[in-house]
Amino acid sequence: AEAEMAEEAILGFLQTREEIADSGEFAAAHGLDHSEVVNVIKSLHGFRYVDAQDIKRETWVLTEEGKKYADVGSPEVQLFLAVPPEGISREELQKRLDPSVFKIGSAQAGKNKWVEMGKHISRKVQHVDDKVKDMLTRIKDGQGIDADSIKALKARKLITPQTWKGYSVKRGPNYAPKRKKAATDLTRENLQRGDWRDLEFKEYNFSAKGPPSEGGHVHPLLKVRQQLKNIFLYMGFEEMPTNNYVESSFWNFDALFQPQQHPARDSHDTFFLKAPSTTRELPEDYLERVKRVHELGGYQSRGYGYEWKRDEANKNLLRTHTTAVSTRMLYLLAQKPFEPKKYFSIDRVFRNEAVDRTHLAEFHQIEGLICDRGLTLGDLIGVLHDFFSRIGMSKLRFKPAYNPYTEPSMEIFSYHEGLGKWVEIGNSGMFRPEMLLPMGLPEDVRVIAWGLSLERPTMILYGIDNIRDLFGHKVDLGLIKKNPICRLGNN
Ligand code: PHE
Repeated sequence: AEAEMAEEAILGFLQTREEIADSGEFAAAHGLDHSEVVNVIKSLHGFRYVDAQDIKRETWVLTEEGKKYADVGSPEVQLFLAVPPEGISREELQKRLDPSVFKIGSAQAGKNKWVEMGKHISRKVQHVDDKVKDMLTRIKDGQGIDADSIKALKARKLITPQTWKGYSVKRGPNYAPKRKKAATDLTRENLQRGDWRDLEFKEYNFSAKGPPSEGGHVHPLLKVRQQLKNIFLYMGFEEMPTNNYVESSFWNFDALFQPQQHPARDSHDTFFLKAPSTTRELPEDYLERVKRVHELGGYQSRGYGYEWKRDEANKNLLRTHTTAVSTRMLYLLAQKPFEPKKYFSIDRVFRNEAVDRTHLAEFHQIEGLICDRGLTLGDLIGVLHDFFSRIGMSKLRFKPAYNPYTEPSMEIFSYHEGLGKWVEIGNSGMFRPEMLLPMGLPEDVRVIAWGLSLERPTMILYGIDNIRDLFGHKVDLGLIKKNPICRLGNN
């Protein structure tokens, strides 16, 4: 309503007069808020109803201290009024006044020769005027004061300068005494009545921001996962079906030559299922060959030399790595005439770990593998450089490591520019012959593979340093709504 009144006043004024010389004076004369008048002028100027010119003025505003004195009077007058006609001891006067009022008031009142300062304080004049208060009030009300008073108030830090901004306004090329409301929609009624001919339509604003979307928001982990999927697909990898969180110990451990007494197979490290506690079906002839290798060796392996138990292999668990799925895929591949393959997966795994700022009991693994005749460690190193450089990690180092299912095995380190040091980012290796040959893969087929967590790169990309801020019940939904898109690699 205030805006409409201002608009009416401005356009109406310009109907008979050449110019509004000063929007500030205009606002004051019409009882309007100046900031509202400014908004209306800007809008009218934008639609060229008016031409507006900036004007600037140096003005003075009260400081906090100045505001206080404008309210309750200057300290010198407060002090003067506190001195009774017969005088007062310094000590007593000090008691009656605020310390700052006493300090400033006695200095000023002494200078003005209003009082005699000493052990005993007495009046030297009958009556005083509070000129400071009057001047401050005038400034507060936007009235001018003389230059000497300005200087004095400024010296006492009761006023400070401020640039006042306003406009002078003239009629513009589209001037009309009343603004035509531009139509935003063409309605059926407009067409029926024929008034569409006279309507003025609002122009499109192509740089307007859309309303924030009310729909779902993609979690950062899923954004990074999508980018990694794109990279794998770009590199010619096929996605493995990882839609089973429950896995048997056989596929998760035994087929990967994790011996049955391996600490990772302890319930402290792995979540076992109560119901159904065991798997119903395993490939029996393959299982026989796996058992033999565990017990006696074979395929150039010495085996572990222990009594392998079927019951242990049957136990259901929440998979501890997606390598369980890779193993199933390689087994399936071995059942058909050999074809080279490049596979990847990105999905959830579970470990019974103590939760801290970098660990949760579940996380996501990214896994890639290539299966072809005659692959070498050089191929693995090459593909790792290719893959990691696409996610912005081009400085890599490798460290020999141990996995029951790969030989050689390498931990992967990347140089983190932000931290200025090498950080471990993944694990890799060439699957062992005693793992691949019992599946029935041809002798010269080699499988190179690597794995890493999805959380690590996501936390680095989004600058999150506590995993619980990324995943789980403590995640701030506002953060999920606001965090930016992710772009990696060549897409
Ligand atoms: N399974 C390994 C892990 O959980 C990752 C890995 C995958 C290592 C493939 C070598 C080959 O850390």
